[in-house]
Amino acid sequence: MLIGNTAQPAACASDAQRLCGIAYMTCRSALRTAGQAGRRITAVIGSMNTVMKRFCETYLKKLHIGNITAESNVLMAPLAGYTCYPFRIMCRQLGAGLAFTEMVSANGLKYNDRATAKLLCTDGAETLRAVQLLGSVPSAFEAACKGEYTADYDIIDINMGCPVPNVVKNGEGCALVNDLQLASRIIEACKRSGKTVTVKFRPGMNRERIVVSEFARMCEDSGADMITVHGRTRNMMYEGEPVYEYIEAAKKAVNIPVIANGGIRSEEDAVRMMDRTGADGVMIARYGLEDPGIFSRLTGRKTVPGKLELILGQADMAENCFDELAAMEHVRKIASYFMKRLAGTKNLKQEMYACGDIRGLREILVRIFGRDDGTE
Ligand SMILES: Cc1cc2nc3c(=O)[nH]c(=O)nc-3n(C[C@H](O)[C@H](O)[C@H](O)COP(=O)(O)O)c2cc1C
Repeated sequence: MLIGNTAQPAACASDAQRLCGIAYMTCRSALRTAGQAGRRITAVIGSMNTVMKRFCETYLKKLHIGNITAESNVLMAPLAGYTCYPFRIMCRQLGAGLAFTEMVSANGLKYNDRATAKLLCTDGAETLRAVQLLGSVPSAFEAACKGEYTADYDIIDINMGCPVPNVVKNGEGCALVNDLQLASRIIEACKRSGKTVTVKFRPGMNRERIVVSEFARMCEDSGADMITVHGRTRNMMYEGEPVYEYIEAAKKAVNIPVIANGGIRSEEDAVRMMDRTGADGVMIARYGLEDPGIFSRLTGRKTVPGKLELILGQADMAENCFDELAAMEHVRKIASYFMKRLAGTKNLKQEMYACGDIRGLREILVRIFGRDDGTE
């Protein structure tokens, strides 16, 4: 097994490449078993529509973050419960320049917490690795950045945007936008590890207390190599349209790259975000779960794999990374997002959750996604 259910922070690149090869082969053979031989599993995007063309010609570029270069400025966001190794690899293969781990407690790593460390499984197939840390104690961040569990990660992203009450009550996540001094000490502590450091934050707690420009400047002055601004205030949680002006204000305040996040559900949204904010790139979260093909479309790929191919690839990788139960849990969660816009799948979804083994689950996935050629 390449990366087990217990933490194994590093594995060799050749193993990883072999895994990806196996994942692809197994995926194809599952399709054949299901009588899908000859089926077009990879959709040709065809002529690029005007919006995609505009994004690719006007905005698509490499992203320079400190001394690191990401191949594209279209990024997959950190998402707790979702952005584990198999999902991140898939997004990268589809064109995402970076894909972040979910938030991990800096304190948990300080105490060598095994469950936390499990979230950090990675290997050489993930060529650029970005881990997100959550916390409020600078020394815990410094220890986490210098510790063995993050040793294989190139980028440390600091969570200063999580709006969840328990997190904010602890002075973590979005609470830090109200404490520029502490936020600055955290960034400096991370920088002492010598790693590239990025910060993801919200513009403020609410519309009456917007701190986006000064916070962005503080990040740059403290040594951050890139910032991501989620254009919703804390009290908006995850609903409502992001406020482009807040992201634009951050962009105007600093010289480091600024990534715009929030509410991108289509190529049109991505173009509008870039038009309105002047940002250096976009970060996609929930829609990346629903339709990861958006990474291929925004990065000008000629083909985009269908959802069947993608979900069976996830099953293959998850089986290699986790035990059967955890692999099934991951696949079901991703499949549920993939199904959001597929009509008439209610019963199949119930079957998917009732099914007790991964083999049966694969068969149900073929029935659910076999009719989807990825183009929608
Ligand atoms: C289920 C879920 C989990 C999330 N987990 C994280 C996380 O671990 N770290 C983080 O910085 N943001 C997290 N977010 C916020 C997203 O990264 C993103 O900022 C937010 O969803 C807005 O982007 P969107 O409108 O494209 O979804 C999470 C959001 C959701 C819905």
